[in-house]
Amino acid sequence: MMIVLAGSLDSKIRAKCEERLNSRLLLYLLIYLRLIIIAMNITSLTMVETSLLVAILFGIGVLFYRRFLSGHRGGSSQASGEEKYGLKVNGDKSSEGTWKSTQFEYPKIEPVTTPLRSIKPVTYRPFKWGKYVVAMGLRTMQWNEWIELDQEFERYFKIREERLRVRGERLLKTLPERPGIVGSGEPAAVELLYELAEFLSRRYPDVYRVTRLAPSEGSYGWYGQGQIKDITIVPLNRKFVIGEDDPLKISSLLIQEDFAIMVEGSDGRYYFQAGAVLIAGSWRMEDKLGMALDEIHTSGNVPQYQSKLDSPMARFFTKFPLDKPVARDNYTFQVVPEAKEDALDFAELAWAQTMKGSEDLKISEGQMWLKESYDDEDSKAIGQIQQDVSTPSYPPIGPSTVWLRVERETMRRLPRTGAVIFTIRTYQTRISELAKEPGVPGRIASALRSWPDDVARYKGHEAYEGIVEYLDECHAEQVRVGVYKEEVPFAEQHCLNSWLLRYPSSFKF
Ligand code: HEM
Repeated sequence: MMIVLAGSLDSKIRAKCEERLNSRLLLYLLIYLRLIIIAMNITSLTMVETSLLVAILFGIGVLFYRRFLSGHRGGSSQASGEEKYGLKVNGDKSSEGTWKSTQFEYPKIEPVTTPLRSIKPVTYRPFKWGKYVVAMGLRTMQWNEWIELDQEFERYFKIREERLRVRGERLLKTLPERPGIVGSGEPAAVELLYELAEFLSRRYPDVYRVTRLAPSEGSYGWYGQGQIKDITIVPLNRKFVIGEDDPLKISSLLIQEDFAIMVEGSDGRYYFQAGAVLIAGSWRMEDKLGMALDEIHTSGNVPQYQSKLDSPMARFFTKFPLDKPVARDNYTFQVVPEAKEDALDFAELAWAQTMKGSEDLKISEGQMWLKESYDDEDSKAIGQIQQDVSTPSYPPIGPSTVWLRVERETMRRLPRTGAVIFTIRTYQTRISELAKEPGVPGRIASALRSWPDDVARYKGHEAYEGIVEYLDECHAEQVRVGVYKEEVPFAEQHCLNSWLLRYPSSFKF
């Protein structure tokens, strides 16, 4: 009886848990409770055996709970920096916007010994079977993994350098102090450059070479070493002397990532005070610089921002400790005409021209159809979308013209200035390549079908949604030849049904 009761309670609560990521704890507790009930109902066990089983289950429950807490706070399973290195992990802050410089000893950075040309791009595949849930989706990031380098480095470098040459200041900028609102982004921009130079020269010693000043009080050098004077990208033979150029420019050329520097204001909100956004593809730094975190997102009509993201993100930024960096992934798809193949930026990495129209339009054309869809409370545009629009026309799609675009984003706090550094690394892969990966075409098709309407519109699905037919065929073929064993979970079946209702002609069996 108790089991039946727990079972029906289970399914109701399970559905709610799928709605809200933060309800994971409830789910764990429920599973745990159910196991205990089952144990207590096994009559063949003696009293001692039952007690032992309950004790073990209790232990598992405690482990789950601790794991939940550490994941929820973006914490790692390792000892915290405070325990391990004697640090003040939360910095020293007497009031909003007044961070006091904090001593911070970094965990040892493990060097990568694989030659750069042999490092393949990481294959992030962040889409899941089943229901799509808008959530922060933060995970713990190991220090070693802050900045990712791979065999694409030189191509990215050339694209980034060319972008700076052509668009210069529009792509990287530091804002001065705005009295009473927020401090300048300048100190954090300088600190970030030293942090990058320290990290990169340790993590990729064959790629970056540094020279240092003699050790001195207040130096930016890690582990008591002298401050870095210059840094050379060895395979490209490019040397950057710190202090001789804009720190943002040097940082932006050292890595494949774009980055935003978020400084806490006197109202406790975090402001985009400096950054280098060279290859974001679908948004321009000039439209967002100076905005607070919430404005950045509401002005872009990020779906369900106010209901699902606003408060958790604000809380996260306020409490974000120095020693627990985090990462998350975003993904979308873009259409790129094949004719671009021989160009340096053949995949429209820097700017998704085909999807968004000209980078110089006040509003990119591809975004204009969003206008009519956003009258609800959840997404009030602050003024970016002002013009009337005609429906954009997209080129024909196929497996080699539709690309997956994954953004791997990281966040960490800087110890001296307390600024939060947000990095964005973009990875692109053609659908024709993804289709060869076991289980992936099925998962992408599932993801495309599971997007709620607002998410689908935001991600510009109308340009590429027809690709699901091809993905279904690839999935069916993978199942047929045994590359992938088909399992259609209940939630996925539900999504298929709703997709069939919406697009009956797109599904053939
Ligand atoms: C906890 C941290 C953050 C979370 C959970 C988050 C979440 C999101 C999500 C869900 C989207 C929509 C993307 C999509 O569905 O394809 C988005 C877009 C965006 N985010 Fe964030 N974000 C975070 C931090 C930041 C920071 C620090 C910046 C600083 C610049 C930023 C800048 C943007 C921009 C510019 C967009 C595109 C907005 C547009 O379309 O105009 N985000 N973010």
